[in-house]
Formats: sequence, structure tokens, C-alpha cells
Amino acid sequence: MSIYKEHEYKKKFDWRLWKRLIRYMLPYKKYMAILIVFMITLAGIDAVFPLLSKYAIDHFVIPGTTEGIGNFLIIYIVLIVVQSMNVWFFITTAGKIDMGICYDIRKEGFQRLQELSFSYYDRTPIGWMMARMTSDTSRLADIIAWGLVDLVWGGAMMLIIMGIMLYLNWKLALITLSVVPVLVILSIYFQQKILKYYRRVRKTNSRITGSFNEGITGAQTTKTLVREEENLKEFQNLTGTMYNSSVRAAIFSSLYLPVVLSLGSIGTGLALWLGGKGVMLQTISYGTLVAFLSYTVQFFDPLREFARIFADLQNAQASAERILSMIDEEPEIKDHSEVAYKFGNILKPKTENWPEMAGKIHFKNVSFAYNGGEKVLDNFNLEVKAGESIALVGETGSGKSTIVNLACRFYEPTEGEILIDGVEYRQNSQLWLHSNLGYVLQSPHLFSGTIRDNIRYGRLEAEEKDIVRAAELVNAHHFIMKQENGYDTEVGEGGGKLSTGEKQLISFARAILADPRLFVLDEATSSVDTETEKLIQDAIRKVLEGRTAFIIAHRLSTIRSADRILVIKNGKILEEGTHTELLEFRGYYHKLYTNQFMEEQEAELLMA
Ligand SMILES: Nc1ncnc2c1ncn2[C@@H]1O[C@H](COP(=O)(O)OP(=O)(O)OP(=O)(O)O)[C@@H](O)[C@H]1O
Ligand SMILES: [Mg+2]
Repeated sequence: MSIYKEHEYKKKFDWRLWKRLIRYMLPYKKYMAILIVFMITLAGIDAVFPLLSKYAIDHFVIPGTTEGIGNFLIIYIVLIVVQSMNVWFFITTAGKIDMGICYDIRKEGFQRLQELSFSYYDRTPIGWMMARMTSDTSRLADIIAWGLVDLVWGGAMMLIIMGIMLYLNWKLALITLSVVPVLVILSIYFQQKILKYYRRVRKTNSRITGSFNEGITGAQTTKTLVREEENLKEFQNLTGTMYNSSVRAAIFSSLYLPVVLSLGSIGTGLALWLGGKGVMLQTISYGTLVAFLSYTVQFFDPLREFARIFADLQNAQASAERILSMIDEEPEIKDHSEVAYKFGNILKPKTENWPEMAGKIHFKNVSFAYNGGEKVLDNFNLEVKAGESIALVGETGSGKSTIVNLACRFYEPTEGEILIDGVEYRQNSQLWLHSNLGYVLQSPHLFSGTIRDNIRYGRLEAEEKDIVRAAELVNAHHFIMKQENGYDTEVGEGGGKLSTGEKQLISFARAILADPRLFVLDEATSSVDTETEKLIQDAIRKVLEGRTAFIIAHRLSTIRSADRILVIKNGKILEEGTHTELLEFRGYYHKLYTNQFMEEQEAELLMA
């Protein structure tokens, strides 16, 4: 279950937040202005129809003539046509604003996710980020665009109707509208209740998404550990809370509507009663009374809308807070402004200023702790010559991956410094380092797409012959050609359609094609068949040629291809040297060798 805590969100309208959101609306201000004009026209014409009825009653129905009805009909039809066009235009315009804003926010969020460091991903569940990028952004954009539509339409409608009513008969108007203040007070009460439960629903929903995501991505693990029942229980707890809050929100929502309707009816009743008396006394025309009755109904419509918009806006505010909290997140690893100025950023790298990398790496008194935890490395020192390959061995949790991740600047030292080619690496851009880096992970990640796409992932401009040469060099060509569509074979999500060994070979091809100065391999312990094993070994040897490399190795053959072996224990170098030197030393490596590698070697001898 996710241990990530949703933080509490403020209840009141946060003007500062909305002011910030205006930035996203600015590019669409022209569309918004057009939309406002459309909506006011729409409301204006809507409000004219009862006046037409009044005219028809007073001039045609009561006198019982049809004189002049032709012109009347023409006006009526023209208004209906204009109104339909209006509706079509406002829907397309609001749609454009909605899509545009949604796209802009997602783009910004995605960009930020690209920049954020490993440590952010350590503490943030994927499901949370997904929810921000999908449902929250679309909700926000939706409400900005369509909320504007409803607000302007409703506001204009009520003002115009009020004006017309007062103009027609101000006394009757004031009496009919006397229910409005009561309605406003009740609306505020109900909305606060509805909001409270809505907010609870949203929060639970967010946690459910998180738990859902973990449930799916961890399904295999769950099954093997027979945790289905517990997970289900946890899930049911969450959905139970969700259900309760949803039901309460629904109860209040459903009570609210009848209340508005009854008050509206009281208003209408007042109009009918007093208006009817007026008609008897002939102080009010029939037409006016009918118009009045329509207006009282029309008047309460937008009021109900307002209540909904208000709730929507509060929801949107919660969405906005979460999205902005993600967009505001500062990457912990960031180039200093002078560095960024000189070497450019992700969007505009100034590659012409980038130095050539030789690949000398120097850890100088490096200490490191993850997210303020305990020190994993304490005063660690290591010098790696350009082109040298280093194998790291040691128990699980000894700090091998940490050392390598620091060298790659996925994390930065808490104390001390790391020099590349004699220069502290924070004085160069991250991008420069990463563009010189080839990384093959413990469980190599392939992206859904073809084998070809995956090989050229780090060098999109690579030509077909380079792709094939890279694949041949790492012995991947053969198995690729055996696939149904060769290089055009789809690998499935995460490369799921290929075996681990095949995925490794493809990631080696990817690394070779990108031709990095630094190469890192976090080798998997998972066993592959002896045939593939040989291919992988051969591939590793070729990739290592002429590159500075860190290999975290579990297989003896890989370790032996390295120029130097480091035995790591509790973040310190316990032993170092070549394979033979370390065996002669008869320390930890010797023990590891005799325990773990003997079998491997025997197997190898048997094979030979
Ligand atoms: N992302 C992380 N956040 C917090 N602590 C971490 C993180 N990664 C590793 N650690 C801790 O740092 C220590 C060193 O871990 P590291 O991953 O470097 O070990 P390792 O030698 O690579 O182990 P293995 O052979 O299992 O891959 C461990 O105690 C581990 O719990
Ligand atoms: Mg590791």
C-alpha cells in the first residue's frame, strides 16, 4: 500500500492560485473575449423570447387578429437561426480553449517530470503523477473553459431578466424577486456541505488510484506472496470511505434541487397571484403576466447553475493546487545559472560549448545519504583512469548502485566532490554528462515500439546500417532476424515480449550506438541460458573497449573482463585489484569466489 500522504487542501478560494492560473488563460484571451460576446448575445436573445410571447398575446391573441403576424414570424425565425449559430460557435470556441489549456498544462507538467531527479521519483508514487497529468489537468481546463461559459451566460441572463422585469412592472418584480436572498443563503449552506463530502471523495479517489496502480504493477508479486486477500481488504476500506462520502454528497445535492425549485415556485406563485389580480383590475396586460411567469422560471435556472459552478471551481482549485505543486517542484539536481547559461538546458543545449569528455573520474572525500537518511557513503575516495573499467562486487545494500548513481549524477554528493576530467562535475551541465553516458540497468527497460526504435532511442538520427552494425557487434542481430518482423518487431510494453537476455542485448546495442564515453552496467543476477550468457559476455567486452566503465557484476566472467575489481562493504572499499591479485590476497573476494563462483566455473569448464 502506498505510504504517500495526500496533503490537506485549503477550503477557501485561493485568489493567489487563480491569479497564477490566469497565466494559462492568457494565450487564449482572444478566444475568451469572443466567447464572452457569444454568451452575452445568447443570454440576451434567450431573454427576448418571453417578450415576443407577450407581444403575440397582447397584439394577436387577445384582440384576435393576425395583422402584422408575418413580420413577427420573420423576426422570430431570424432570432432562432442566430441563436443556433451562436450555440455552435460557443461550443467550438470553448472546446478550443479547453483543449489548448489542457495541452499547455500537460506539456509543462511532462517537461517538469523530465527534469526532476531520481530522488523525486523515490518519494512520489507513479499513480499520483499519472492522476495529476490526466484527470486533474482535464478537469481544470474543462472548468476554466466551460465555467466561463456558464458564468457569463448565467450572469448576463439574470441581469437582463431582472432589468426587463423591473421595466415591465417594478412592483411585481420586487415582490417576485424577494425570494432571491433566501435562496442565496440556502445555496451557500448546501454548497458547503456538498463540497465537504466532495473533497473527501476526491481525496479518497486519489488514494484509490495510487493503490490501484500499485496493485496492478505489483500483481505478480502479490500473487506469489499470496497477499491478494490483504490487498483486497485495504482496497475495500478505501472504496468504503469513498462510497460513504459519495452517498452523503449525493444526498445533499439531491436535497438542494427541490429546495431551489420550491423557492422558485414560491416566486412564481407570488407573481401569479399578484399579477393575476393586476390583470383583473386591468393594471397589467395578459401578455405581461405570461412574460413574468416565464421570467421567474428562467431567472432561477442560472442560479442553480451558479451553485454547481461554484462547487466545480472549488474542485478545480484542488486539482490546480496538486498540478501546480508538481510543476513547482524544484529538481534537486539542477545546473547553476552560470552553468546553464554557458552550456544551455534541455530545451536549448549549447553543445558547441561542451568539452570533449575523456572519462577520468575522481571521487574526492564523497559522503552521501538518501533524502536526509543515514550516510550510505562516508568519505569515499576513488580514482578511475580514462578508459578504465571497474567492477564493483559486494553484498546487497553495500552501496554499489549508490556509487554508480553518484558518478552518473543521478544523485549528488552530500559532501565532497566528484571530478570528471579534473573538473568538479557540477561546473558542467548534467546534460553533457548524460549525453556521454550509456547505462544498462539491472532490468533493462525497453519502450513499447519496434526493436529498431529501441536501439536508436539515444541517437534518433542513426542510419539503418549503424543500427545493424551495433546489433551485430553485441550479437543481437542474429536473434533479431529470427523474430517475426526482424527489426520491425514490436517489443510490447516494457519489452514484455522478449526474454531478459534479449532485452539486455538490445540495451547493449542501444548503448553501443549512442557511443558513450562512460558506460555503466548494473548487471542482473538473473540467469540466462548458457548460449545467451556467452553472447552477453562477448557484448560486454566489446562495449567496454576504450570506455570508462562501472560494472556491478554478479557473474565471474563479467568481473574478469574489468581492469580493476573493487569489493565494497558498507560504502567502503574493502579490497581492490585484479582478479588474480585479489585471489592471492585471500580476503573477502577469495571467499566470495570459492563460495559463489566455483560452481559457475565448473559449469564453464564442463561446457568447454
Ligand atoms: N532510493 C533510495 N532511497 C533511500 N535509500 C536507498 C535508496 N537506494 C538505496 N538505498 C539504501 O542505500 C544503501 C545502499 O544501497 P545500494 O542500492 O547502493 O546497494 P547495492 O550495493 O547496489 O545493493 P544490490 O546489490 O542489492 O543492488 C542500502 O542501505 C539501501 O537501503
Ligand atoms: Mg544495486
